[in-house]
Amino acid sequence: MKSIQSDVNAQDTDALDRTGFDALVDKALSRRSLLKGGMAAGMLGFFSLSPVAQAVAAALEPSRLLGFKAIKASTDDAIALPAGYRSSILMSWGDPVLPGAPEFDHKGGNSAADQALQFGDNTDGMALFHFRRPDGSNDPDRAVLAVNNEYCNYKYLLQNGEALTREDVDKAKAAHGNTVVELVREGGQWRYVRDSKLNRRIHLETEMQLTGPVAGHALVQTAADPDGRKVFGTVNNCANGRTPWGTYLTCEENFQGVFGADRDEDVPPEQARYGIKAAEDRYRWWQHDDRFNLSKTPNEPNRFGWIVEYDPFDPQSTPMKRTALGRVKHENAELVLNKDGHVVVYMGDDERGEHIYRFVSKNKFVEGQDAMNRTLLEDGTLYVAQFNGDSDKHAGRGRWIELSHGKNGLSVENGFADQADVLVHTRRAAKQVEATTMDRPEWVTHNPHNGQVYCTLTNNKHRGNKDEQPLNAANPRASNHYGQIIRWEAKGGDHTAETFDWDLYLIAGNPTVHEGNLYAGSDAITADNMFNSPDGLGFDNDGRLWIQTDGDDSNAGDFAGMGNNQMLCGDPATGEIRRFMVGPVGAEVTGLTFSDDCKTMFVGIQHPTGAFPDYLDGGKPRSSIVVVTREDGGVIGAA
Ligand code: FEO
Ligand code: CA
Ligand code: CA
Repeated sequence: MKSIQSDVNAQDTDALDRTGFDALVDKALSRRSLLKGGMAAGMLGFFSLSPVAQAVAAALEPSRLLGFKAIKASTDDAIALPAGYRSSILMSWGDPVLPGAPEFDHKGGNSAADQALQFGDNTDGMALFHFRRPDGSNDPDRAVLAVNNEYCNYKYLLQNGEALTREDVDKAKAAHGNTVVELVREGGQWRYVRDSKLNRRIHLETEMQLTGPVAGHALVQTAADPDGRKVFGTVNNCANGRTPWGTYLTCEENFQGVFGADRDEDVPPEQARYGIKAAEDRYRWWQHDDRFNLSKTPNEPNRFGWIVEYDPFDPQSTPMKRTALGRVKHENAELVLNKDGHVVVYMGDDERGEHIYRFVSKNKFVEGQDAMNRTLLEDGTLYVAQFNGDSDKHAGRGRWIELSHGKNGLSVENGFADQADVLVHTRRAAKQVEATTMDRPEWVTHNPHNGQVYCTLTNNKHRGNKDEQPLNAANPRASNHYGQIIRWEAKGGDHTAETFDWDLYLIAGNPTVHEGNLYAGSDAITADNMFNSPDGLGFDNDGRLWIQTDGDDSNAGDFAGMGNNQMLCGDPATGEIRRFMVGPVGAEVTGLTFSDDCKTMFVGIQHPTGAFPDYLDGGKPRSSIVVVTREDGGVIGAA
């Protein structure tokens, strides 16, 4: 999401005192040549510990894994792809989804009620679920697509450009949430089915249920819901996850923006910790809807910041907020089925100096017992990561610290009343146990071939500049405006183990602007593939790592030559990175999913600011899902 965090980042990065920045660069302890040696040593040590990784590396020819010709950076207001690839628009903000929905009105005339029937705004994480045939196989050409609608841009959503009335706020509430649509593939091309019975809009008026340790607790009770179990809506749904039992996970990120209060004293420190402010003046929901005003409904924010699970094939089902997974600004939820049947979920909290989390289910997955499997995220143990290591090698050993009441100082004496208190105030608990502060953890993904886990650390202007965020081995650069990708391997390949080995898979940078220091980037970064602010991340079935960016697209200064936001593809065995896609002007590239055969890739283009995708005179730019296919019908990214 650019609107809340990255806009600020971009402005602040531009405003960096150049002399101060250069001084920081000069002071960086490790020179690039040392980094190269360190990375090589780190990777060697890492892989040498992993027979699985060695086998995969030996089995995969790099040239087979990345089979396309890299493209150049671009500042064009268009989608750019390698030769032999094509793209089309699947669905754009405001497209009709439910029966009775009107067409999108470029003049801004759609009402709140219209928006609730149309595709929500700012497409983000998504997942494709193929229909299951009676014989248990997947139908290759029919599916539902569950999509996050992260936030809205008042400049385009509202005719006045600001929320002046309850109707304006209701329209914004209807633009948030999720959209589910049926898709069909005809002649090799996917399209969405308008008015399908499976289509669904989920927004701020959709009834949901709190589950897990926090459900029913005093911290989530309100006048409208004295039982503390029934919540209306989900908000700021950033990235996503999916489960082996066929449900979708949608993750609530920057919920702080939709809350406000009449007076400063009505925002207690535990809410300020998540960024909630009195007199919030960007979205103004609190001025028109008491539910979002802490002076009137103080516990409502505790009912957001969760991971939500729902069945994408049942539009009548009640989405479940899974409180056992903690309350943070969730980016995505990467679910790994451990070899012993435990379900493990890796998660990032996207804020400067926040943390990486792991959930381990209490019970085990049983194939075919989906009614039981659907309860697995209700009960389990939450952990937070501590990355220890060698600053020169950018590698080391980490451990997971349990966030259970009564353990690791999470006690009544330290201000934690019970487990619900720990979970509602997950950030405070992580601080209590001295988790490692990270450079804004965004998406987490795992390699299906060897179980190694990767997480984007998008950037952090505060690193090295705030006392509580000193440099550390995993976050080695002051004023980190480029970002890095960290990866780890669970001890013995057991994702429930206490320890793991980690290294930095890559450090983004600009080798045409910086030389001889970490800001030039790690070995894999060249003038031909450089980028900043890695964010979206995902492996395909073959083990290609897709990297999406949400960064500074000024194409100037420290970002010269990087162009618009983009998507790259990495071969984790060799470290090679190639640029695959460039997005249109102003947009972030975020959200990806594949058809089962990996011959179609769905990619999210969020918050464009030019003329994409309609290129209409006077038309509004619209966030859109793009369908990428190959002219020869082959697998995306392969030879
Ligand atoms: Fe919604 Fe952290 O990106
Ligand atoms: Ca993101
Ligand atoms: Ca981001």
